[in-house]
Amino acid sequence: MAHDPYQRMTSPFLLNDSVVIITGAGGAIGGATAEVLAAAGASVVISDLNLETAQAVADRVTRETGRETLAIRTDVTSESEQQALVDATLAKFGRITALINNVGWGEYTPLWDVSMEYMMKSYLLNTVSAYHLTKLCVPHLRKQENASVTFSGSAVGTTPSPEFISYSNAKAALLHMSKSLAAMSGPEIRCNSIVIGSVDNGEATLKAGYDPEMLRRLSESFVMKRRGTPYDIAYAFQYLLSPAAAWVTGVQLEVNGGGSYKSKMPTND
Ligand SMILES: NC(=O)c1ccc[n+]([C@@H]2O[C@H](COP(=O)([O-])OP(=O)(O)OC[C@H]3O[C@@H](n4cnc5c(N)ncnc54)[C@H](O)[C@@H]3O)[C@@H](O)[C@H]2O)c1
Repeated sequence: MAHDPYQRMTSPFLLNDSVVIITGAGGAIGGATAEVLAAAGASVVISDLNLETAQAVADRVTRETGRETLAIRTDVTSESEQQALVDATLAKFGRITALINNVGWGEYTPLWDVSMEYMMKSYLLNTVSAYHLTKLCVPHLRKQENASVTFSGSAVGTTPSPEFISYSNAKAALLHMSKSLAAMSGPEIRCNSIVIGSVDNGEATLKAGYDPEMLRRLSESFVMKRRGTPYDIAYAFQYLLSPAAAWVTGVQLEVNGGGSYKSKMPTND
């Protein structure tokens, strides 16, 4: 892209002509991302296991941005449903310019209470499904300019997280995988991940094992003194998909309110 900082200050962040598949888009981060990308000019495919929430996001996006959307039920752990998602996107929009592998789930589990089956299920949902959907999209992405694949990583994938052993293992593998995919996909396709800190997604975090008091203490521990909103993450996705990030691949962008800082100086506490 030609460097033109004065006449088009905001245009490198626009997504006109983009067709973006977002998985888990009926949820908090995926839903906000669909909204933000559509507002930036993209056509968004809102895919989720829960068709009702996906449709509600699609209706909101169309109402607020005027953009056409596609809401579709997809279980990302099913190869055939992934293929149906790709086929439906091509049938409606004719191309795929970006994929956001956003599905993910993990909950508190005592370290030694995890079975092999549970560990494998987490890996399938958080990591393997993203690998396979990326594989299905790559032939279509290769035909597009500034094509990209972006992954929803987690802070628990970069730090020791024994409380979430199955989820954190899977997210660590996801972050590693996105770098491997980046190394082999350029220059046609950029692959990046966002290392997401604690974001308010309503009930989901409570179901994962937190209570309101824990969340208050967690917020207080962050440099920015609050948990993230889904939009804090959505704008990072917009950047990574946009022409402004045309030379950005293989990165793990940390969006986490500065994380928790602990002094290295010993105290009496
Ligand atoms: N919220 C946080 O604090 C946080 C922190 C770090 C990373 N993340 C990651 O961000 C991503 C989005 O999280 P969120 O906070 O929006 O969660 P969320 O629970 O609000 O949304 C997740 C969505 O995924 C869908 N889903 C679950 N299983 C699925 C399947 N098999 N197939 C298709 N869809 C399925 C759910 O129906 C839900 O709509 C996840 O990958 C999560 O691990 C979130």
